[in-house]
Amino acid sequence: MKRILFVDDEPNVLQGLKRMLRSMRKEWDMSYAGGGEEALRLMEEAEAPYDVIVSDMRMPGMDGAQLLTEVTRRFPNTVRIVLSGQSEKEAVFKAIGKTHQYLSKPCNPEILKQTVARACNLRDLLSDEALKSLSSRMEQMPSMPKIYLELIEELKEESPSMQLISRLIAKDVAMTAKILQLVNSAFFGIRRRITTVDMAVNYLGLENVSSLVLAANVFSQFNTDIPIRGFSLEALWSHSGKVGRNAQTIVKLEDKTKEEVDDAMTAGLLHDCGKIIFAANLPEKYSEVLRLLESEKISLIEAEEKIIGTNHSVIGAYLLGVWGLPDAIVEAVAFHHNPEFCPSVGCSALTAVHVANGACHEMDGAGSINMAYIEECGLGENVQRWLASISN
Ligand SMILES: [Fe+2]
Ligand SMILES: [Fe+2]
Repeated sequence: MKRILFVDDEPNVLQGLKRMLRSMRKEWDMSYAGGGEEALRLMEEAEAPYDVIVSDMRMPGMDGAQLLTEVTRRFPNTVRIVLSGQSEKEAVFKAIGKTHQYLSKPCNPEILKQTVARACNLRDLLSDEALKSLSSRMEQMPSMPKIYLELIEELKEESPSMQLISRLIAKDVAMTAKILQLVNSAFFGIRRRITTVDMAVNYLGLENVSSLVLAANVFSQFNTDIPIRGFSLEALWSHSGKVGRNAQTIVKLEDKTKEEVDDAMTAGLLHDCGKIIFAANLPEKYSEVLRLLESEKISLIEAEEKIIGTNHSVIGAYLLGVWGLPDAIVEAVAFHHNPEFCPSVGCSALTAVHVANGACHEMDGAGSINMAYIEECGLGENVQRWLASISN
């Protein structure tokens, strides 16, 4: 049974949640706290750890952002969800680095149930406890310093250009992931799935993007203090951009909808985000991975699994999934090296990213295209045409 803790300083809100979630009593073991301090006490004293915490933002004493920061530090395996009013936008933005999902008040019970269930299911995918706590300590996805500084400069201009801002964010793997996390959260109540940076920036508007970047420091710069031999941030960014563009071209050639074309592009850009997570959070270990890759002539995936216990496609997909990015993107990231393990077949963002990535002849030697899988998708005859149309 999943254990869920709800935190809100308003007794009426907690009462409302209790009433609303009565039907979930058989599936969830629910507790309620009237503030941050009480929540931490409950978590401390609990016999079994809580799977999910759902917290309000503005509370007297310890506020939501402080509470979630503490929870991240002391109970890293607990999924963190913010449930807050629209007027608390600034506070919500401030907690973005510590939050997996956002919900806005008043909350529709179905959305709350789905959000909690999805977060729990993804967490269960990482069955190994050690892996779960490793992943919760690896939530930093920093940006390319040059793009980050350019974005700050543009935002400080008297009348910043929305077009340039979108273009800068769309060049960066981490900024793209973060902005899609926020815009796809239930907090903004946008019913459509948003898969491109252009759309995200348009929906959020200049004011929100500005306060996200300048006031809330949602994006961070990659720290290059510990150099990783054999790892180049620039090379990874340029590879990601290329896979994004090429995946888009492939899906276009298949006459797919605009939405599917967008999915492929974003999935391509994000497909190797797990490598950034490793390099940023475990630089020493990642150096070891790259050393092993060179000395033993094994694939990058094998080397990562040997040293870290998981690989970049799993960790990347897991994090994007917990952040609530659309399924097609999470699926493409998860299976980009092993599309044959994906339950669904046919032309999808995954197929396009797998081929675009394979065609790039990655430095990690994991760039081969699985033709048996492409045949199974019924697309074997199209591959030559795709390869002829994409850039290398
Ligand atoms: Fe990869
Ligand atoms: Fe790749």
